[in-house]
Amino acid sequence: MMDTDKRINFGIVGLGTAGSALVQPVLKNKNFRMAGAADLDEQTLARFKADFPEASVFTSAEAIAEAQGIDALFISTPTQFHTGHVLAAIANGKHVVTEKPIATNLEDADLMIEAADKAQVTLMVGHSFGYETPIKAMREVVKNGELGPLRMMHNWYFTDWMYRPRNPEELDTTLGGGVTFRQGSHQFDIIRLLGGGLVRSVRAMTAKFDNSRPAEGAHTVFLEFEDGAAATAVYNGYDRFRSAELGYNVGEGGLPFNLDKYGSARSALRNAGPDNELELKKNVRYGGTSSRNWSNIPDSHPFYGLTIVSCENGDIRQSPDGLLIYSEEEKKEIVIPKGISGRDHILTELKAAMVDNIPPLHDGRWGKANLEVCLAALESSNKRKEIYLNHQKMVQD
Ligand SMILES: NC(=O)c1ccc[n+]([C@@H]2O[C@H](COP(=O)([O-])OP(=O)(O)OC[C@H]3O[C@@H](n4cnc5c(N)ncnc54)[C@H](O)[C@@H]3O)[C@@H](O)[C@H]2O)c1
Repeated sequence: MMDTDKRINFGIVGLGTAGSALVQPVLKNKNFRMAGAADLDEQTLARFKADFPEASVFTSAEAIAEAQGIDALFISTPTQFHTGHVLAAIANGKHVVTEKPIATNLEDADLMIEAADKAQVTLMVGHSFGYETPIKAMREVVKNGELGPLRMMHNWYFTDWMYRPRNPEELDTTLGGGVTFRQGSHQFDIIRLLGGGLVRSVRAMTAKFDNSRPAEGAHTVFLEFEDGAAATAVYNGYDRFRSAELGYNVGEGGLPFNLDKYGSARSALRNAGPDNELELKKNVRYGGTSSRNWSNIPDSHPFYGLTIVSCENGDIRQSPDGLLIYSEEEKKEIVIPKGISGRDHILTELKAAMVDNIPPLHDGRWGKANLEVCLAALESSNKRKEIYLNHQKMVQD
C-alpha cells in the first residue's frame, strides 16, 4: 500500500488518441503527478516534454517500466502490445491501468491477471464508457430498485469510426481492430455495469460493408444475463446515419455534434488519399495539429450513442444534463453535476486501490470478462450460433 500523503507519480505509455486523453485528468487531480511518458515517436515526446519539463520521457515502454520514481503506468499503446507492456510494468512493481480491450485473447488476459496478483499490484482496465458519470448514475437508479426489476438494456451507436484516420492494426481483427473489439468493448462495459455483470450468452452478427477497410464495421449483438435480463448492442461505424440525431446532437465527449457536415469523415479520407492516412492519424497524437483539447468542460454530459434501460416499472435514458426517468406516473429529469469525466473516475478508482486498498471494479478480471464478450460476439457471428460465457464478473457496488 502507498503512503496516503504522497502524490502518485503517474506515467503514460503511448501518447496517441487514448494516452493524450488522460493528460488533463492527471493534471487536475491533486493525488497524482505527471511524472513521465513513453512513445516511439520522438516528435510527440518532444511536444509532451515541452509542456512538462519536469517529467521524464522515454522512447520505449520497457524503459519507462524500469524507471525509478514512477508508481503507476497507463498503457495506451495499440492493443496487440498491451500484454508485453503490462507485464513489463508489473515486473518492475508498477501499478497499471491498461486501455481496453485488455488484450486480443483470454490467455494473455490471464497472464496479466496472474502477474498482478503475484506482484500484489493493481491492474485495471479502462477507459470505457462504463466509467462515465451518466452511466454510473443509471446503474444507481437500477440498483436502488425504485423502478422494479431490470429487464432490458440497449446501446445503439451510429458513428464514423471506420473512416477516421486509422493505423493498419485498427482495421485488422487479429490485432484487436474493428468495431467489435474497439467499440463493442465500450458498449459491453456499459451493458455489463447496468446489468450487474453476469452475461450468460451472446448471439451476434458482425458485418463488413467496405472491402477497403477490412475489419468489422458494424454489429448487432444480443446479450442474455444470468437473471434473464436482455440487452442489445448495435454499432455502425460507416458514417451515414449518425445516432447523435436521436441524442440531442451531443457527441461522445459531451460537445455539440455538427450534423450539417454530412459524411465528413469519409470525404476527408477520400480527399487526403490512402497514402496520407498514417500522417492524419499521427496528427491526433499528443500536441498534434488534430489533437483534441481536453481542458474545456463540455456543456453536456457525454453520450455514447443511445442508451435505454427498461425496468418493470419504468425506463431510463440520458438527457444533456443528466437522466430522464419515465416512471408509472411521471417523466422526470435527474440533473447530474458536470465536470467529472470517466477518466477522472479511473484515477479515483486507481488511487483508492493503491492507497486505501479498495479493490477496483474494473480490475483485470473485469477486463477479461469484457474481452470474453467481444470474442463471443465475433465467434457467434462466425459460427452463426449462441455462445455461452464462463468468465463473467459480478458488479460489487
Ligand atoms: N478509451 C477510449 O476512448 C479509447 C480511444 C482510443 C483508443 N483506445 C485504446 O487505446 C489503445 C491505443 O489506441 P490509440 O487510438 O490511442 O492509438 P494511437 O496509434 O493513436 O496511439 C498509440 C501510441 O502508442 C505509441 N507506441 C506504439 N508502440 C509503442 C511502444 N512499443 N512503446 C511506446 N509507445 C508506443 C505510438 O507511437 C502512438 O503514439 C488501443 O488499445 C485502443 O483500443 C481507447
